Amino acid sequence: MKIAISGKGGVGKTLLASLLSRTFAESGYSVLAIDADPDANLAATLGFPHPEKIIPISEMKDLIAERTGARPGRTEVYFKLNPKVDDLPEKYRVAHNGIKLMVMGRTKRGGSGCYCSENVLLKALINHLLLARNEVIIMDMEAGIEHLGRATASAVDKLIVVVEPSRRSIETAYTINKLAQDIGLQNIAVVGNKVRSQSDNEFLISSLPGFEFLGFIPYDQAIIEADLANLSLLDASPQVTNEAKNIYHKLVPVTQK
Ligand SMILES: Nc1ncnc2c1ncn2[C@@H]1O[C@H](COP(=O)(O)OP(=O)(O)OP(=O)(O)O)[C@@H](O)[C@H]1O
Ligand SMILES: [Mg+2]
Repeated sequence: MKIAISGKGGVGKTLLASLLSRTFAESGYSVLAIDADPDANLAATLGFPHPEKIIPISEMKDLIAERTGARPGRTEVYFKLNPKVDDLPEKYRVAHNGIKLMVMGRTKRGGSGCYCSENVLLKALINHLLLARNEVIIMDMEAGIEHLGRATASAVDKLIVVVEPSRRSIETAYTINKLAQDIGLQNIAVVGNKVRSQSDNEFLISSLPGFEFLGFIPYDQAIIEADLANLSLLDASPQVTNEAKNIYHKLVPVTQK
């Protein structure tokens, strides 16, 4: 099963990615979590020791140069558009508590023609992970889906858009939905997070008619307090953990049909 998680900044993508990774791992699946958010913090949320020491793939300049033929930062005219990547997961993933993790790092932004070598390597790697790897993949993304393309759209079992009760997060959900339609990705579902009341719940449902909702995660101050106290967010709130388990149970039958 391949799950991609997107949504507006701060809605709870990383928390959901972490909770789902743990739930799949506890259920006996081999889980590879991918941090594809430039502002990577999945490792920390998953409780990896020394997350700051994990070097993102996009910063491995020698590797990028070796595989693409072009050193990041230099304007080479020619480089490989389909670099070898199949050996990279084994070499560059880290593992903790039964969860494997790869941190992608920052891609270069530019005009539509920005074929930078680091972007090419990351795209090839993500394509490989989604298309060729036989494990549960949970990808924590940013507010867009730029790592996905037509080739990978069919491999994504669920694109989960996390929303919170705010108009801007709903707008972002529609934008992501449009981007997904553009690449032919149909399997979109929504998770409501930071829900404080029944009326929050109703706001989300009425704002996103026609969307499949996988669940509603309550707002819990205990998560904020755990964050401030530098404690694990994953065990801070039984209600939040429980709803993540319900979401897991909705996801699992998808690939078992
Ligand atoms: N259900 C919740 N109750 C209370 N606080 C929450 C809840 N979900 C997330 N938070 C808090 O909201 C903040 C953002 O969560 P998180 O980092 O998971 O979001 P994100 O979408 O990954 O953000 P970013 O876009 O910055 O990557 C964190 O401080 C987290 O502790
Ligand atoms: Mg995040």
